[in-house]
Amino acid sequence: MAVTNLALHGGPKAVTAEDPEGWQVFGTEEAERVEGLAEAEELSATGAGITREFEEGFAGYMGRPYVLSQMNGTSTFWGAYFAVGVGPGDEVIHPTYASIGSIAPAVFLGARPVFCEVDPRTLTADPADIERRITVRTRAICVVHLFGNPADMGAVMDISRRYGIPVIEDGSHAHGAEWDGRKVGAVGNIGCFSLQGEGRGAMSVGEGGVGVTDNREYYERMLICGHLNRVGVVQELTRPEYRQLGSTCLGVKFRAHALGLGLGREQLRKLDSVNEKRRAVHQQWNRMAEEIPGLEPVKILEKARPGGYYGYRLLYRPEELGGLPVETYLKAIQAEGAQVTACDFPLLHRLPLFAEGFDIYGGNRGPLTGDYPGYREGDLPVSEAVHRRVLALPAFTDPRPGVLEQYREAFRKVTANAGALR
Ligand SMILES: Cc1ncc(COP(=O)(O)O)c(C=O)c1O
Repeated sequence: MAVTNLALHGGPKAVTAEDPEGWQVFGTEEAERVEGLAEAEELSATGAGITREFEEGFAGYMGRPYVLSQMNGTSTFWGAYFAVGVGPGDEVIHPTYASIGSIAPAVFLGARPVFCEVDPRTLTADPADIERRITVRTRAICVVHLFGNPADMGAVMDISRRYGIPVIEDGSHAHGAEWDGRKVGAVGNIGCFSLQGEGRGAMSVGEGGVGVTDNREYYERMLICGHLNRVGVVQELTRPEYRQLGSTCLGVKFRAHALGLGLGREQLRKLDSVNEKRRAVHQQWNRMAEEIPGLEPVKILEKARPGGYYGYRLLYRPEELGGLPVETYLKAIQAEGAQVTACDFPLLHRLPLFAEGFDIYGGNRGPLTGDYPGYREGDLPVSEAVHRRVLALPAFTDPRPGVLEQYREAFRKVTANAGALR
């Protein structure tokens, strides 16, 4: 093997910054808010106090009248699928490149997931493939604004209107992102957001979720699905059959934690500025990807304004580096000290649960058993091919001076020496 200045071959590392990020997730505002709630012993999100304050704040930000805080993103999807009437025998169309949390609740409600391809340029659901997969059993379409990049909501909502199928948006990576001037999550029929994010999300409260809609009926169904004993819940329900359930509703509690909502209320005030800072870093990564052979930025559609997802994704182009395998490329980049990995989100149709199926209820009765066909490798070839090329980078919010340049140098060095790695 030729001798190079690559760290892999004993050369100096390009990335030497030990503490690359200057941004702190929680500031004094969050600390004071949590302390205040604890001192007032407001620890349960009853539906009054901090619950209302958070929900009203989020409703104002989103421009949607109905907002419900939830215990996590998964329970928010549970409420949303229940709201649109997903049940046994139904199908839900969902991109294969996503989190399991936005489809698992539909399966528990008895529906079969129908995975669609992602557009390999944007990594979000391919509208043409969604349309191809519609059947008489399709009850809902879920789109995911993966890694903060808004999906093609114009095309998706056109399909929704033509077929009369509701759209649930997953904005868990995209708080504050926009499609055509509107916040994502407020374009489809229901928007669902996780507020988790490993402490570095644009809105990150530990565990939490929030659902938004402009449809009163959906809102009331989300209420009865998971908000038993919420303050004023019976008065909020307008349908007699929902009201007669009383405050115990359907007996399930998906309520958020009050301290999390306190954190969330403060983080909402900072959301736009955090997104702005991260977008600036993303733009620098993208410029780098355009200039350095072997890299390709993820495409942002014309009407899309991405959010500040805490990671960033680039696409690897082996054909520009003489076919250098992505694994070898990554090894060399990592040796340079850069935190760049293969993508950490698996394709859903390749997970054992969905590939092989599972007898969820026992007795061969659930949506993933019986005549469930399962999925094999090759069933979604476009997504499978692009998934192998996705590189995960840290996003950075306030990178220390010189950090981005060091990363850039790591990529440049590996590209320049690709011939010696093959
Ligand atoms: C895109 C996406 N959707 C949904 C979820 C599920 O949210 P939660 O973990 O809060 O239940 C996650 C969680 O990581 C996610 O990344």
